[in-house]
Amino acid sequence: MGFIGSHTVDSLIADGYDVVVMDNLERQVHLGKRPDYLNRKAKYVIGDVRFQKDWSKALRGVDSVIHLAASVGIGQSFWESRKYLQTNVVGTTTLFELLTKEPALKKSISKIVVASSKSLYGEGAYRCSRHGVFYPEQRGLSQLRAGDWEVRCAVCGAPGSAVGVPEEKPPQNLNPYSLSKYATERLALDYSYALGIPAVAFRYFNAYGPRQSLSNPYTGVLAIFLSRIKNGKRPVVFEDGNQLRDFIYVEDIAHANVLALERGEGVYNLGTGRPSSLLQMVTMINNELGTGIEPDVTGDFRPGDNRHDFADNMKFLKSFGPKVFTGLSDGVSKLVEWSLRQKAQDRFSSAESLRKKYIPGA
Ligand code: UD1
Repeated sequence: MGFIGSHTVDSLIADGYDVVVMDNLERQVHLGKRPDYLNRKAKYVIGDVRFQKDWSKALRGVDSVIHLAASVGIGQSFWESRKYLQTNVVGTTTLFELLTKEPALKKSISKIVVASSKSLYGEGAYRCSRHGVFYPEQRGLSQLRAGDWEVRCAVCGAPGSAVGVPEEKPPQNLNPYSLSKYATERLALDYSYALGIPAVAFRYFNAYGPRQSLSNPYTGVLAIFLSRIKNGKRPVVFEDGNQLRDFIYVEDIAHANVLALERGEGVYNLGTGRPSSLLQMVTMINNELGTGIEPDVTGDFRPGDNRHDFADNMKFLKSFGPKVFTGLSDGVSKLVEWSLRQKAQDRFSSAESLRKKYIPGA
């Protein structure tokens, strides 16, 4: 079970829900072992979202579904696209096809919450001082090869300043992963309408926190940096390290998932609305660990990465209340404290060789 799922289970149980978990204990995340954080008060079904019989087993007696199971690496989704589409798209639609065919099951389900991703937006949102807010195309390879990192206004060529991405931004879907997440969300909303079951799709921004795999090189940047620094290696920072991301603490996501069983309908950005740069994150991790490992700012880039993105979370706050998100320094401190008791296999280099082999754009 992944880190967002496990925190969601803990939150549900703390709130008095009875929980059934379906999980396939994916090898890339768990290295063939059962994680030690499994909540004993939940019931576990080892199953695969691609198989209707597994969903049938897990859904017996259930009244709501929080569907988080997915393959999650953007780069890897290019060279394992069939796996990504099978798990994320076929996996999701297997649930809905089953509900369509089993009227009694459909009747018993009163809410469905699914995990979508900000990655479906592609590039973030920007403002040009002369031409207002714009949604740019992906930066071209020749621009990136010249080390010209900032997104530019298509009208006057001036660099844009990043603004929060609103839900209205049309999907750009620049990789199989984001396409699969957009499909997950659309399937949830389309079947919600067709079957009359209310659904919520949260577009997660950059989730981080305890239990994030420190050995999965396809996970988010914070876990990768932490794993490098714990292994005494310099974290490799692409571009110039001033990229902005919206890091949201995993327990905040877990609470939102639980709240969504009782309220909300449709699509919501789930991010803090506060941007931080990658270089800031390296400093924060070093400070927490008491290390002083300098980032290796390569000036290299990963084709397909966004320059900046962070959430406009007004819609979320309106429906789910004026939530105070966990502060970044508190969250990083909890992540680092947890990591002290964990083994971190740094597999950055092997993942990078694969990326360069399959996506040689740079
Ligand atoms: C990430 C996740 C995506 C998830 C989304 C929202 C991955 C690969 N990306 O996208 O699945 O849906 O958040 O939660 O899982 N970087 C470095 N050095 C590294 C790794 C990354 O400098 O070793 C840089 C990247 O170039 C990028 C930034 O860090 O500029 C963020 O990268 P990443 O964590 O992969 O995140 P997103 O693309 O934001």
